[in-house]
Amino acid sequence: MPPPSLPPTIEPTTEAAIQTRGLTRRFGPLTAVDHLTLGVARGCIFGLLGSNGAGKTTLIKMLTTLLPPDEGDAAVAGASILGAPAEVRRRIGYVPQMLSADGMLTGRENLLFSARLYGIGASERRARIDEALRTMGLEDAADRLVKTYSGGMIRRLEIAQAVLHRPAVLFLDEPTIGLDPLARHAVWALLHRLREELDMTVLLTTHDMEEAEALCDELALMRAGRVVVDGRPAALRASVGPEATLDDVFAHYCGGTIVPGGGFAEARATRRTAQRLG
Ligand SMILES: Nc1ncnc2c1ncn2[C@@H]1O[C@H](COP(=O)(O)OP(=O)(O)O)[C@@H](O)[C@H]1O
Ligand SMILES: [Mg+2]
Repeated sequence: MPPPSLPPTIEPTTEAAIQTRGLTRRFGPLTAVDHLTLGVARGCIFGLLGSNGAGKTTLIKMLTTLLPPDEGDAAVAGASILGAPAEVRRRIGYVPQMLSADGMLTGRENLLFSARLYGIGASERRARIDEALRTMGLEDAADRLVKTYSGGMIRRLEIAQAVLHRPAVLFLDEPTIGLDPLARHAVWALLHRLREELDMTVLLTTHDMEEAEALCDELALMRAGRVVVDGRPAALRASVGPEATLDDVFAHYCGGTIVPGGGFAEARATRRTAQRLG
């Protein structure tokens, strides 16, 4: 007799840092995220790929409790986004697609702002901020206005702000868009270190196949609000052909080449972000 088939949904386990179940979000007639079921193992650097409009940002906004789902639920760092959103917020960090650091404050002041926001006690703040500045290579620039920083320095500061409270899960929406190769590599090294040293789980979106290959342990390709395929980069390549690159994987599963920027407003805003970061 054949063994009984497994149930179609994955049950949340303590090993999963993120587990979604039938997560759905509609905007009027459009279903941006469509009954999406996805699991991300603890300690993983997980990359979400997909054309513009695939639903990546909408998914991240639901997982970070910024946007309520219409259906479904997700466990993030062991808490439900529906049942315990405040607990989820305490256990995560988020670096949004658009610039979030304040250019009119210094790096240290930006970090102080985050420390207060995350409720880090006054006695601990100074040490935590000094350590963050040191880890991020921003000690010398700590007391300069952020508007004088390079794009790479701003991204490192934003990541420092997002991990000051040592979250279990870090979300980053297109963290390296507009950065030069050197700054991009510095961000990759930083994310690897956060994973190694703080055992952090990282979920990021990217349009950059080189980044997906170099940085991510696991990838999920999204199309029209659903996950088309997921797996390790090498396994995804092998599934398409012996010589296949991730570009081929993307073309195969998502039916086209990947381009940054979205509709007019998003393209304009992304370009503005990229220019400011550049
Ligand atoms: N606030 C909103 N109101 C209406 N439609 C939206 C809104 N946010 C996103 N969308 C639409 O949902 C779809 C998914 O968008 P998004 O999650 O930003 O995709 P991605 O990040 O993959 O480019 C797109 O068609 C987008 O236009
Ligand atoms: Mg997006």
